[in-house]
Amino acid sequence: MKAFVLIAALGLPSAAFAVDKLSGGEALYQKHCQDCHGVDRLGAMGPALFPENLSRLRKNKAAKVIANGRIATQMPSFKATLSSQQIDSLVDYVYTPAKTVPSWTIEDIVASRIEHFDQSKLPNEPQFDADPMNLFIVVELGDHSATLLNGDTFEPITRFKTRFALHGGPKYSPDGRFVYFASRDGWISKYDIYNMKTVVEVRAGINTRNLAISSDGKYAIVGNYLPHSAVILDTTDLSPIKLIAVADKNGKTSRVSAVYNAPPRTSFIVALKDVKEVWEIPYSDNGGEERFPIKRITTEDFLDDFFFDPQYINLIGASRDNKNGQVINLDIGKKIATVPMNGMPHLGSGITWDYQGKQVFATPDIKDGRVTIIDMESWKVIKEIKTDGPGFFMRSHSNSPYAWVDVFFGPHKDRVHIIDKATLEIVKTITPAPGKTAAHVEFTKDGKYALLSIWDNDGAVVVYDAMTLKEIKRIPMNKPSGKYNVYNKTKYERGTSH
Ligand code: HEC
Repeated sequence: MKAFVLIAALGLPSAAFAVDKLSGGEALYQKHCQDCHGVDRLGAMGPALFPENLSRLRKNKAAKVIANGRIATQMPSFKATLSSQQIDSLVDYVYTPAKTVPSWTIEDIVASRIEHFDQSKLPNEPQFDADPMNLFIVVELGDHSATLLNGDTFEPITRFKTRFALHGGPKYSPDGRFVYFASRDGWISKYDIYNMKTVVEVRAGINTRNLAISSDGKYAIVGNYLPHSAVILDTTDLSPIKLIAVADKNGKTSRVSAVYNAPPRTSFIVALKDVKEVWEIPYSDNGGEERFPIKRITTEDFLDDFFFDPQYINLIGASRDNKNGQVINLDIGKKIATVPMNGMPHLGSGITWDYQGKQVFATPDIKDGRVTIIDMESWKVIKEIKTDGPGFFMRSHSNSPYAWVDVFFGPHKDRVHIIDKATLEIVKTITPAPGKTAAHVEFTKDGKYALLSIWDNDGAVVVYDAMTLKEIKRIPMNKPSGKYNVYNKTKYERGTSH
């Protein structure tokens, strides 16, 4: 607009010329895309279009989406209107970071709130017949939906629309009645499981990593890449209580890689991407002056993927370029050990169990085909189990003798290994749907059944008897990713990551 005013002032009448003055992609964006994708790419009816938001979409795929549109969605095809060069310049534009980090203030958050139902008027007990602690929420990325699944009969109870591109696992209220979702574009949705309704939503950021819920169920914390912020919400109505602009003690701002709840500490833990700090934010109302004070722990390295011991005394962090895991004792706020690890462990999906009288933790590796088993007293690697390729998720249950790990990347992405927790050997490898990614196992409340995703538009959740390892049932689903059991998640069952 400024360029146009300037040109008008100079007596140059051409509006087209003014538009050309903007870089090609930006002008095309304003003309063809802004109505749906928002002013400044912030998102509107269509998703936000910043590189941070598009990190899971390759550039050539984005060009195809623009050219062909997406069937069964409102994204239109532009190949009749735009040349392939124009499409390329649009792709370049949407993969260019914003000139300044876009802002999303507490007023923006307040203004975004949508109350769909008055919760106080909804019944206080489940409107269906099933054990409310043995339900699963299955996230289906294929068409941005979720299924509420009965964990005893494995019958879907309902299926509902979610926001575009959920990110990070959904989190339950401690009583299991509500589930909170975070979407890639910052939307937080509160879903009333008992009444099968989304009750309230708020946009807490522009690009969001995940959310966590406090153990008393009163607060949610949301971690953002855009802007560099963490937001604390009141879970009753998702109204914002505190917006924390994230910066280290010298003022350098940082993206938030993840937020966690640490139940025994009654605090949130915040992992930071760009600065060498880890934050602890106590949420218990201790009568102190400042609500949600920030306790900074300075680290030797950038740590952005965490595993916690079950007592939440130590966290193990892996940095993206360092091969070592660092053990940080949260009570003393210091590093107490280094775990020499090969490759790139995915600590966030690490789990623990007892092995020969010791507590061990196990983590897949997202670069190489291995599972690393670590003694949690000596912090030494006691075994590396070779797998058929890099893995992403690992799961077990206290009542199960086995740990399941997927092969998420590479030619064997259709395989899942089953490891005997007593011998640390792979006892079985399954290929539930040849050629299709098999991933993410979650157990029922009692640990008797394991549910696995066939991560494909023509996919399924496959139910296994967790003892005999035999398939029991296949429930068709549209690209099911994670599935979350109410009991295991709210009780912080050891075999599941949090
Ligand atoms: C009529 C509304 C509308 C218009 C106009 C529109 N889009 Fe979209 N676009 C959408 C919707 C809705 C989606 C999400 C589709 C889905 O559910 O997968 C989308 C998805 C996309 C995606 C994929 C995002 C992702 O994360 O998968 C890209 C890239 C994109 N649009 C670019 C553009 C560009 C560039 C333009 C302008 C040339 C444009 N869109 C115009 C509605 C629109």
